[in-house]
Amino acid sequence: MDKFVINGGRKLHGDVRISGAKNAAVAIIPAAILAEDICRIENVPNINDVTSIARILQEMGAVIRMVNKSTLEIDSRHINSPVASYDLVRHMRASYYLLGALLGRFSHAKVALPGGCNFGVRPIDQHLKGFMALGAEYKLEGGMVNVSADHLTGNNVYLDVVSVGATMNIMLAAVKADGMTVIENAAREPHIVDLANFLNSMGADVRGAGTDIIKIRGVKQMKGATYSIIPDQIEAGTYMAAVAAAGGDITVHDVIPKHLESITAKLEEMGVEITEYDEAIRVVREKPLAKCNIKTMPHPGFPTDMQPQIAAVLCLADGTSIINENVWDNRFRYVEELRRLGAQISVDGKIAVIEGVKELVGAPVKAMDLRAGAAMVVAGLAARGVTEIENIEYIERGYENIVEKLQGLGADIRRVYFPEASVAQAL
Ligand code: EPU
Repeated sequence: MDKFVINGGRKLHGDVRISGAKNAAVAIIPAAILAEDICRIENVPNINDVTSIARILQEMGAVIRMVNKSTLEIDSRHINSPVASYDLVRHMRASYYLLGALLGRFSHAKVALPGGCNFGVRPIDQHLKGFMALGAEYKLEGGMVNVSADHLTGNNVYLDVVSVGATMNIMLAAVKADGMTVIENAAREPHIVDLANFLNSMGADVRGAGTDIIKIRGVKQMKGATYSIIPDQIEAGTYMAAVAAAGGDITVHDVIPKHLESITAKLEEMGVEITEYDEAIRVVREKPLAKCNIKTMPHPGFPTDMQPQIAAVLCLADGTSIINENVWDNRFRYVEELRRLGAQISVDGKIAVIEGVKELVGAPVKAMDLRAGAAMVVAGLAARGVTEIENIEYIERGYENIVEKLQGLGADIRRVYFPEASVAQAL
């Protein structure tokens, strides 16, 4: 078993480059199915979730060529089955995008119910509601979702909850439907705009992405395209949180500063100095941290995917901070782990109250999910002494070369194989 071993308490200095956005890539790669042609996708992050979705497409008959370490060429002409294999799919939340993409291409899709990080009930009722509005029917059998339509026809779909996944999945199913689909109360995340731009570059007609009303006029055919994925807002935010917690002066490159505004605003409130450039952001933390309150909301609100990392920073702020988690039911499972490092946090339902402490002290902890794991890294970098993080496969689902990138900033972090190596030998 591998763990991350961090010898914390060192300030971070230097430059880090951000990879392509995970949550855009996991939708854009399946979207390539719609083209029945060759798509070249650039700035693809080299992470386990991307490898998994690419393998699923390969198993279905797609030919995938790695042009270089961040460019994939997907030839989906020979996919002739709308069924995605159970074993690969069930571990991945984002496998639900195969439903929309296969439905769009074949009017039929059979995909395992999604897996992924476990932080509360993760229904797909809004996705299915959208597919039904377009004329599809669905059955759940043997752990698989089976969706099919004689013919997909555009329609109005009002989402009862603002859902990133449902918005993107309905877009995927609707791009080749007959007539106009209107998604109301749509999610507005940057990766929704990215998917719309990719679909449009393949010949689709999607307008309004980035607002809460998206209009999709169905087209008869789509063609291959070359497209570059946007930078990962949450990966960038995680490095910003890391320097906020550990102190120092770093520049985060290859970002879109506008996508980081809600994170920047909160870090500034905490006393972190931030300078924005065209495609980079400098983050300096010299002064003690001030408390602040956070409420997670769909974009442009503060992203739930940054909530655990920012909580790790607030553990070291002066005074009491309150976090209100408004998106997921159970996203405080990391709190118990942060307590092992000396954090003082209490949780009541969707609210966490953090009493800032003078220092955190290293300890063995577990990554409970992807962003919970990122929070352990942020806290471990700031903590005095050694923090060992278990279950790092969660972290590696979403962060490309996190160890190397942090080492580049001067952090003392290593990936160590246990049980052979004891911590003492590793250091
Ligand atoms: N919801 C429903 N019904 C649905 C769909 C969602 O009730 O049919 C509820 C969910 O239970 C949740 C809320 O709506 O309370 C928002 O869920 P959403 O559908 O927006 O989430 P998602 O699409 O499943 C994506 C990201 C998550 C991120 C959320 C919110 C991917 C693959 N996942 O999930 O990312 O937390 O949006 O921004 O894009 C992560 O990267 O760590 C991660 C978990």
